[in-house]
Amino acid sequence: MSPFQLTRTLADDASDAALRADVLTGLTRHPKVLPPKWFYDARGSELFEEITRLPEYYPTRAEREILAARARDVAAVTGARTLVELGSGSSEKTRFLLDALLPELDGYVPVDVSESALEGAGEALLAERPGLRVHALLADFTHGLELPPTTGPRLVAFLGGTIGNLLPDERREFLRAVREMLVPGDALLLGTDLVKDEATLVAAYDDAAGVTAEFNKNVLAVIDRELGADARPEDFDHVALWDPRHEWIEMRLRARHALVVKIPELDLVVPFEAGEELRTEVSAKFRQEGVRAELAEAGFTLSRWWTDEKERFALSLATVPALG
Ligand code: SAH
Ligand code: TRP
Repeated sequence: MSPFQLTRTLADDASDAALRADVLTGLTRHPKVLPPKWFYDARGSELFEEITRLPEYYPTRAEREILAARARDVAAVTGARTLVELGSGSSEKTRFLLDALLPELDGYVPVDVSESALEGAGEALLAERPGLRVHALLADFTHGLELPPTTGPRLVAFLGGTIGNLLPDERREFLRAVREMLVPGDALLLGTDLVKDEATLVAAYDDAAGVTAEFNKNVLAVIDRELGADARPEDFDHVALWDPRHEWIEMRLRARHALVVKIPELDLVVPFEAGEELRTEVSAKFRQEGVRAELAEAGFTLSRWWTDEKERFALSLATVPALG
């Protein structure tokens, strides 16, 4: 078998139908919202990689620090033969896990909605590690995720704080679905950004160079290209706000003046009032007790909790307890 295999569980038309449904529902309600997965076309994935290198965006560096220090512990505790990674992107930080898990590792299963990210990551990994078997899955991890047959024990990694991009109800459903994919002896490695001072948080989502603003506006480019819409990035401002009640950062696009966006493919005209905002993403920040409770509710036991030196970010190793 070829060392790189890519399975598309998103039919082209399914993704198209999902985009249409999300845009139609999201832009005809008040306040307007869009789900964050539509940021990540090829350009969006590139922009996100640029974000991870910004001086203000600490989560990637903090998580890398933890992985560098703890990957061997992860391997010792889990003895994983298969590494599944949800929202794997460039798989850059994953190298620490792969190195610690090899040579016992039977395969790596990166899962992402971005085909360009999966291909780029797979190619780079195989060039460096010729023995590795990579079975990439083009799939939506929030919707009917099914794994190919894999050797246990399995370790599911969900890094980058991406779980914070799900709303609380979505998180609950997601964690339950992941738990149901697993059996006792399997484990989940979960990266969560932590609650901290507002200035640090806001700067991470509103950088001086404007890369995050460009990333946020990329969702407009996706709608323009895929649905023939005429949204113009220069008509919107990027907004990043800390919501202390929910303890999440909220990313919005704010109309600079009254305008309409025409979306011919949906037969839709979307009016924006001056200053009206479209919510494009939340990025929730966590505390240990909250993470422990959410994991427990889904049927996981929090076995290890590791942070970077400055306690900005946490990695949780959650195990699936034996029946009971
Ligand atoms: N894990 C990487 C990338 C994080 S960015 C890191 O820590 O740096 C979030 C990644 O999740 C992107 O690659 C994006 O394409 C992917 N993604 C977002 N929503 C998704 C969904 N619903 N299903 C699958 N992948 C998704
Ligand atoms: N999972 C990342 C996070 O919440 C995604 C992200 C980082 C992001 N910066 C962003 C999403 C800016 C939208 C806009 O940190």
